[in-house]
Amino acid sequence: MADIDPSGLPVHVAIIPDGNGRWAKNRSLNRIEGHVRGTANVKDTVIFAKELGIKVITIYAFSDENWSRPKEEVDALMHLLQEYLIQERPNIMKNNIRLCTLGDIERLPLFVLEELKKTMELSATNTEMILNFAVSYGSRNEILRATQTIAKLCIEKKCIPEKIDQALFSKYLYTKDLPDPDLLIRTSGEMRISNFLLWQMAYTELYVTDTLWPDFNKEEFLKAIRSYQHRERRFGLTHEQLDEF
Ligand code: IPE
Ligand code: IPE
Ligand code: MG
Repeated sequence: MADIDPSGLPVHVAIIPDGNGRWAKNRSLNRIEGHVRGTANVKDTVIFAKELGIKVITIYAFSDENWSRPKEEVDALMHLLQEYLIQERPNIMKNNIRLCTLGDIERLPLFVLEELKKTMELSATNTEMILNFAVSYGSRNEILRATQTIAKLCIEKKCIPEKIDQALFSKYLYTKDLPDPDLLIRTSGEMRISNFLLWQMAYTELYVTDTLWPDFNKEEFLKAIRSYQHRERRFGLTHEQLDEF
């Protein structure tokens, strides 16, 4: 870790932990075995991120589109999420981590929703790191939901269309009050966003590794951070302009 600059860490890291199914297939195992290993890896990654000094981590745990997977797989994922929340609650508290969610969580089965709400309430005043679980999350629906809310405000004369700017719109997204992700890590090689944080990732640095999620370890995480620290984020400006700051 000696070559990591602690002052240049990404504040907000977003992760698409993909490849559980392929990890299992490579070993002639059931896909669900891959999810079991993937969930165990989420535990380790969250604690490592906190130890590194990351302030916000957002993990894409289950997408809107994932509801259409085979029922057996969806059920298994829901039970794994419930188990994670119960087992990790003490660790989340011990590490002073605040759990939040992005997504249409009311769609989750009650046994998951209850554990989720319990952990969110219990950890609400924790300050070391925010752990966002994107569950039942899709960015297009998030944007539509924000649009509907703002349209209603306009009808009720609580807002005028001319006042709708980027700052106002952002306030109606699940990520309100959070900085945009600085770094997105996607495992298992796919070069796509898959409906994740479309608005928020306008200027996020992308890092894709071929490593499958269950194999993504601390060294892999550090590799992603190192890659991030070698990027020049220009936000549309020129290199010379950045020197002026
Ligand atoms: C990611 O692994 C986990 C979830 C989507 C919940 P996948 O299940 O998508 O794994 P692959 O892409 O089939 O290998
Ligand atoms: C993205 O992975 C969603 C999660 C990791 C939860 P998918 O496996 O669902 O994405 P696609 O289908 O390959 O784009
Ligand atoms: Mg996948």
